[in-house]
Amino acid sequence: MELRIAQTAVHAVAVDALIIPAGEGEPPVLGRECDGLIAQIYSSREFKGSSGDLAWIHRPAGLAAERLLLAGTGKPGKLDAAELRRCGGAAVRHAKSKCAHTVALALPAALSNAAGVQAAFEGAILSDYETDQRKTDPDRAEKYLTRFELVVAQAVEGGESAMERGRITAESQNFTRSLVNEPSNILNPAELAARARAMASDVGLECEVLDEDRMRQLGMGSLLAVAMGSDNPPALIILRYRPEAAGPEGVHLGLLGKGVTFDCGGLSIKPADGMEKMKYDMAGAAAVIGAMRAIALLRPAIPVTALAPAVENMINGRAQRPGDIVTTLSGKTVEVLNTDAEGRLILNDAITYAQRLGCTHLVDAATLTGAIAVALGGVNAGLFTNNEELAGRVLASAKRQGERLWQMPMDDEYKELLKSAFADLPNIGTRYGGSISAAYFLKEFADPAPWVHLDIAGTAWIDEAKPHMAKGPTGICVRTFVDLAMSWT
Ligand code: BES
Ligand code: ZN
Ligand code: MN
Repeated sequence: MELRIAQTAVHAVAVDALIIPAGEGEPPVLGRECDGLIAQIYSSREFKGSSGDLAWIHRPAGLAAERLLLAGTGKPGKLDAAELRRCGGAAVRHAKSKCAHTVALALPAALSNAAGVQAAFEGAILSDYETDQRKTDPDRAEKYLTRFELVVAQAVEGGESAMERGRITAESQNFTRSLVNEPSNILNPAELAARARAMASDVGLECEVLDEDRMRQLGMGSLLAVAMGSDNPPALIILRYRPEAAGPEGVHLGLLGKGVTFDCGGLSIKPADGMEKMKYDMAGAAAVIGAMRAIALLRPAIPVTALAPAVENMINGRAQRPGDIVTTLSGKTVEVLNTDAEGRLILNDAITYAQRLGCTHLVDAATLTGAIAVALGGVNAGLFTNNEELAGRVLASAKRQGERLWQMPMDDEYKELLKSAFADLPNIGTRYGGSISAAYFLKEFADPAPWVHLDIAGTAWIDEAKPHMAKGPTGICVRTFVDLAMSWT
């Protein structure tokens, strides 16, 4: 897709569809003949300007565009960058569903700044993503935009670099989504590692992949116990970004992501219904890999190392059994009471290893528990931490990026949920508070390093399309991770 900022009057933009954001009770005035029609559409209440409202005007008199699309932005004064990303994206997605290939969006005056420009481009690129990578329809290409223009009344300071940041971030998020969307027969741990390696060489990142032998030498008994049940070997993917100049004193960010390329549950097998969705159990790994792509291109001031343990949770003759006791890299022993609680078994070794690699601050993303969707639905991801300062940074980044996170409790009393008669820890807690016991399990390996855990099981995949987003992988956490690294000074 061709992207550009057009500093012209909106009436002069020659595109298939021109999108004009319009608030409640604020009919836009373009100074052309079509203004009367716009006012009429407002007074007839066909279009109110509420968030999500859309109205077409065909062959708008006095405009060079073929069609005009009014896009509601809600109550006056409520429009921020996150809302522009969402409602601009929804309008772009609607336009392209009606065969517009070249689309322009008029940047609202209130967002005539770098954040507004970045969000507008992100919204367009994210909305253009489709999950049809594996369809053979020869007309597939026609579903995508060919050109997106942001129309600005006057030059925006730093506009061109904001456009570039938006492009890099959104394309990286779409890269994450396309990894998540791949089926497990195609994307197994080795393939995920190969995709990460190829991306790393494209953008100039260092990539190292630890194989099964190396993990055995190191003593990652917990990760390997999960991997043993599959004939597809595991991989621990490590991506390193290093800034040119030494960054702020001592900070080294570690990003970790759960990379279970398929989770059938192991011997504690899952029900058949919905099992096909367990290809997205590597969404955390895909998020850190996509974030590293953007980080390599945007070059933040701090060093960042990503670790993505990749395994398949399957059942062969060597699969782990309920009751097995494994020794983790940390030396702690874990009683595997349920083989379907495999995410925490692979992440604990990665968390320990990240600290050995010198990471001072850890943030992980994992489709860890179905219970987080019970607690928060599909709206917020759960945030768990042992360090309020780091949590504050992550929450601030998420807010700026329009990704919703909700902080969950981590009181010491929850430790009571994790008692094993035979090992240091069991890998599951009791029936209630399942997301918290999972997080608390990870905390036992992260402490005392500042650590944030994001449970994205409820938010990494949507079963129904949204106006601004295709059904399927959302790419959640990419923008928050990129913002976290970029804003660290
Ligand atoms: N990958 C699942 C969690 C999950 C569920 C992700 C639904 C996405 C959608 C995870 O490995 C798992 O199976 N967790 C168990 C934990 C239980 C055995 C304590 C769960 O949530 O049921
Ligand atoms: Zn899982
Ligand atoms: Mn599982």
